[in-house]
Amino acid sequence: MDIDRIQGETIFVTGGAGFIGSTLIGRLLDSNRVTVYDNFARNALQEKSYNGHPNLTVVQGDILDYAKLRRAMKNSTYIVHAAAIAGIDSVIRSPVTTMSVNMVGSYHVLQAASTLKNCKRIVCFSTSEVFGQLAFRSKETSPAVMGAVGEARWTYAVSKLSVEHLAYAYYKELGLPTVTVRPFNVYGPGQVGEGALRAFVLQALRGEPLRIHGDGTQIRAWCYIDDMVDGILCAMVKDEAVGQSFNIGNQKTVITVYGLASTVLRVLRSTSEIQFIGADSVDIELRIPNVEKAKSLLGFEAAVGLEEGICRTASFYRAKIQE
Ligand SMILES: NC(=O)c1ccc[n+]([C@@H]2O[C@H](COP(=O)([O-])OP(=O)(O)OC[C@H]3O[C@@H](n4cnc5c(N)ncnc54)[C@H](O)[C@@H]3O)[C@@H](O)[C@H]2O)c1
Repeated sequence: MDIDRIQGETIFVTGGAGFIGSTLIGRLLDSNRVTVYDNFARNALQEKSYNGHPNLTVVQGDILDYAKLRRAMKNSTYIVHAAAIAGIDSVIRSPVTTMSVNMVGSYHVLQAASTLKNCKRIVCFSTSEVFGQLAFRSKETSPAVMGAVGEARWTYAVSKLSVEHLAYAYYKELGLPTVTVRPFNVYGPGQVGEGALRAFVLQALRGEPLRIHGDGTQIRAWCYIDDMVDGILCAMVKDEAVGQSFNIGNQKTVITVYGLASTVLRVLRSTSEIQFIGADSVDIELRIPNVEKAKSLLGFEAAVGLEEGICRTASFYRAKIQE
């Protein structure tokens, strides 16, 4: 990937203190100025060795505060909009905040970006949840499914789908160079939010039972954080990305949730037991991406296998537990 194309730029990352944003900026800081704009509801940045890097500016701000957001974004040439309410527990707890931050906040980011003089790219984040409960080899053109009103989980998918529509509308109507990425189950060192793989690794390392919501037959494909970051960098660099949405995931790491728990135990040589607890909400039964579009247009292909990814993730959390 031609990341050298991004040099000497002024990059504005909303949600830059989060899991994905804070990892991404590590790849950009040495040759660019980066501003992280985050309300610090979560903070993975504090763990990073490059927190305090001379090219890094940190602004504590909310994307719902348009005036502050616009001021902080001034003179930026690249926008990565990762800020969101994400993670199913947070979404179910706060569906109103989920919809206002993800919809109104994203509108603010796109509107502020439309006032920039030299904006080269705006990368927005959607989600694989837009494909609904049964997503088998879902393509970017597969129909989006939103689920029933009254089921809080779907407020996340609906709000993220609206971001996609909005990003595309700003491209189509106002010529903004927008791209949307749809991450599929990202995991790895530095994850601060919710996520089954993070929970299983932590439980295994602490010798606690691995707790599965539901019966464990749910199927997922797991994408290691470094692959996800490669996908975002491709979306920032490649001209072909503009005006498009891309599935970013690893279609080779497909496994049931029970299979995942068993694999974590085996790979980490843990003697923890597996427990089944009630599901908190409707669940996604099947979620496997088709990543052909990202491969052919962006040259993106996930490289990190599941067992390797589990080992790298465990090394990170093991060191934290020992701190
Ligand atoms: N991690 C995944 O598997 C996954 C899957 C699908 C989509 N996504 C999307 O990718 C993006 C990044 O995800 P992540 O895993 O890094 O999540 P994360 O929760 O770790 O990071 C999100 C960041 O946004 C910040 N934030 C929340 N509300 C804000 C607000 N009102 N104003 C400013 N900042 C705010 C949080 O403090 C946090 O640092 C999100 O848009 C998410 O919806 C992630």
